[in-house]
Amino acid sequence: MFLRDEMFLRNAWYVAGWDAEVAGDTLLPRRLLGDDLVFFRGDDGAIVALEDRCCHRHAPLSKGQREGNRVRCMYHGLVFDASGRCVEVPGQERVPERLCVRSYPVVERDRLIWVWMGLPENAAAAAIPDAHWHDCANWSAERGGYIHYDSNVQLIADNLLDFSHLGFVHNKSIGTRKQGSVRPEVTFDDESVTVRFTTPDSPPPPFARELGALAERVDRFNFYVWHVRGNYFVQDSVIAPVGEGYESADPSTIKLHTFIALTPRDAQSTHYFWSTAHNDFRSTAPDLTRRLTAQVAHAFHEDREIIEAQQRSIAAAPGAPMAAIAADGTLLRVRRMLDAMLSREAQASHAPPAAEGALA
Ligand code: FES
Ligand SMILES: [Fe+2]
Repeated sequence: MFLRDEMFLRNAWYVAGWDAEVAGDTLLPRRLLGDDLVFFRGDDGAIVALEDRCCHRHAPLSKGQREGNRVRCMYHGLVFDASGRCVEVPGQERVPERLCVRSYPVVERDRLIWVWMGLPENAAAAAIPDAHWHDCANWSAERGGYIHYDSNVQLIADNLLDFSHLGFVHNKSIGTRKQGSVRPEVTFDDESVTVRFTTPDSPPPPFARELGALAERVDRFNFYVWHVRGNYFVQDSVIAPVGEGYESADPSTIKLHTFIALTPRDAQSTHYFWSTAHNDFRSTAPDLTRRLTAQVAHAFHEDREIIEAQQRSIAAAPGAPMAAIAADGTLLRVRRMLDAMLSREAQASHAPPAAEGALA
């Protein structure tokens, strides 16, 4: 296992932020996959994503000002439209075409801002993964979840694909020791992996005991899908009375939908956007959504602490070997999938253009 230098798929939809972050005259700077972008909402309501570097003398456009559907660089006053074209140079009549900044395809969906970091002609909004649960009538959730990670994205992805850490990193929050020894069912598709993890007849985890009204023994179902393209994780968790099953209609049954979107900031840091929606299960907690969100956030910070420490340890001894164990099988296979996808993307971007008149 190692950390690559160029490890990001560019032809992917990544979460760039929550919709509420871009409002009014805000010019939101955000570094994604090593690129500096600025996001703003035009008067027409549409979000615009541009390179955050003026083509004149490289002042950040995020230090400028929004004017309608455009942004003005507040160093020497160049104005750029939503396509990145410069449309005004103060004191100069003609605006040459070469005055432009890169613009990125952007879509607002399910309260999230999705940005396409690859070739614009490959951006198809239909490929954006489903994230509706935190914006849905039958579920309650707090939106806006965000963690900054001082770690390469791969270490966080590894952690999400590995349930063997639950009984150790999270033994005081969401995990139990028994989970550390249960083998999940794993199925692989071309660009995703589905993990089904069932823990029958075991004590409920600490957070469920605190917030729920379950008996002393429960069945747990944790099913999740990891989308390799775009680093998107969606988990469906059920904690039900023993024997009720995954579809349990018992009002004490806790059902949770969690999404985590990992967007690389650069090789050393990562944006972690998340939300956990619940099914309004029977609870004595008056402010259930806030408390549940705080519990999940606490568990995520437990992960962050160990992963950032791991990142520092790796950086201190680059290239030192790691010894694999059986529980690493899924994450190693996912890394191989990612390597293959990266190679295909690199080959496609270096492919020579088809010769004129060549047979298709
Ligand atoms: S640096 Fe932007 S106008 Fe000069
Ligand atoms: Fe974890």
